[in-house]
Amino acid sequence: MLEFLKLLWVRATTFFYEALEFIKVVFRFYPNKKFRQQDLSLLRSYLFLNPYRICKEYLIRQGEEDPYVYGETPLTTLAQIAKECKLNAQDVVYELGCGRGRSCFWLGAFVNCRVTGIEQIDIFVVKANQIKTKYTVENVRFSSGNFLEFNYKDATVIYLYGTCLEEATIMHLIKKFAKMAPGSKIITISYPLTDYLELQNWALFELVHTFQAPFVWGWADVYLHVRR
Ligand SMILES: C[S@@+](CC[C@H](N)C(=O)[O-])C[C@H]1O[C@@H](n2cnc3c(N)ncnc32)[C@H](O)[C@@H]1O
Repeated sequence: MLEFLKLLWVRATTFFYEALEFIKVVFRFYPNKKFRQQDLSLLRSYLFLNPYRICKEYLIRQGEEDPYVYGETPLTTLAQIAKECKLNAQDVVYELGCGRGRSCFWLGAFVNCRVTGIEQIDIFVVKANQIKTKYTVENVRFSSGNFLEFNYKDATVIYLYGTCLEEATIMHLIKKFAKMAPGSKIITISYPLTDYLELQNWALFELVHTFQAPFVWGWADVYLHVRR
């Protein structure tokens, strides 16, 4: 009975948080007609498809031990991150593991920069590309595949919200980030890259800013690193 009540409480608070977030999104971001059309179209296309379930089923098929890792950056949180990290229209942003692509469309519309979302789950990319084509969103693109197999030499900003990545994956990414130009930014959620730097690359990134931001599951630390 106690477990049931706990579950009910979690469901109720999540529902409340998401409803509140949606109201904020409507007031803050929907006055921008282009973004409103893209976002509503994206949300409508998932009306009977739950992204959490899509991700869970994908990970079970891949034989992953923990399939409950999907989550999205609330758009009001993304706005805070963009402001704190001083993203601007000249930036070339790569979002590693972009999920259904909602934040890529937001960045394209409000920061006005070039954005590439990379995602391993094909259906997320197919649907995001449909919205991109329908509304001719030229500064945002989506690529299907494993983000470990891409290169980020032209990136000025990496956004990585992958709180459950294995250590080996993060180490592999660090090798790729090392090829980025000096001054480029890497934003991570929950852990700083500096936790994973080894002797040969410890001086590559400087942790320049840390702040807290709200996610559906609670407050998280956001880390901004700059490639030296
Ligand atoms: C926590 S979700 C974040 C979604 C989105 N970035 C956001 O902040 O709203 C992580 C996403 O990363 C994707 N992902 C995890 N590992 C990946 C990999 N190696 N290559 C591509 N996508 C990956 C997952 O499929 C999932 O959609």
